[in-house]
Amino acid sequence: MIKDFSELVTYLSKRSRLKYKVFHVSSCSSTQDLAMSLFEEGYGEGLVVVSDEMSSGRGRLGRRWSATSGGLWFTLVLTPPKLTNIQILSLGIASSVAKALRELYEIKAVVKWPNDVLVNEKKISGVLIEGKKNVKTALFVGVGVNVNNEIPAELREKAVSVKEILNQEVSRVPLLAKILQFIEETYFKLLEDRSNEVLKEWCDLTETLGRKVRVTTINEVIEGVAVNVAPDGSLIVEDSAKIKHVIYSGDVIHLT
Ligand code: BTN
Repeated sequence: MIKDFSELVTYLSKRSRLKYKVFHVSSCSSTQDLAMSLFEEGYGEGLVVVSDEMSSGRGRLGRRWSATSGGLWFTLVLTPPKLTNIQILSLGIASSVAKALRELYEIKAVVKWPNDVLVNEKKISGVLIEGKKNVKTALFVGVGVNVNNEIPAELREKAVSVKEILNQEVSRVPLLAKILQFIEETYFKLLEDRSNEVLKEWCDLTETLGRKVRVTTINEVIEGVAVNVAPDGSLIVEDSAKIKHVIYSGDVIHLT
């Protein structure tokens, strides 16, 4: 069992195709920004930036992400040689987190479109992918997992941590190692044009399909049944008039 972030690269190098370089800092504004600066300085694919806390953690859709100490907050840099479908990559990243939580702690984590990980309807993890075009296209895959951090009072109805579920603190290092292992598997499946396998795995881990949902997009609010995920990763919602809506971006709430 690895205990320390410094042991992570040696541990991973025996098992992985990506060449990892791990930066562990006690605090930063956002691991996304730090990874972007290090990328500008010449670090490339396999760079992982982990921070114990972040002063300006970013969430999806321009939101703030609360990142106090005890949580697992990291960014992985990927530079895919061909542009993979980012929507499917983000579904696959959420599946990777859910699988790691299941395998390490037997927590019944499920995924919610597009890339939230929930336990008993409360959010335990979120994923943010940002891109940058330099010499190569770089993807900054940001993952936040509530591990031993205290959930702020205003979020307790909606969010949960590993510590709260297990009634004990756990080490973040084996969790990061396991998540990276699953992300890497997903990434290579996408590079090998096996996105159908990534989608199938996400469908097996979700409780969104078949349920009544409310989707808030930048333009509208749609209520209906989440009937499917299309091959490009968009969500298909059928409303009460049997009209099918294709959702590319938005927030989903389970209504039933
Ligand atoms: C979301 O659900 O809104 C996505 C949250 C993503 C949070 C992670 S924590 C590590 C990385 N650095 C950030 O500033 N954000 C992402």
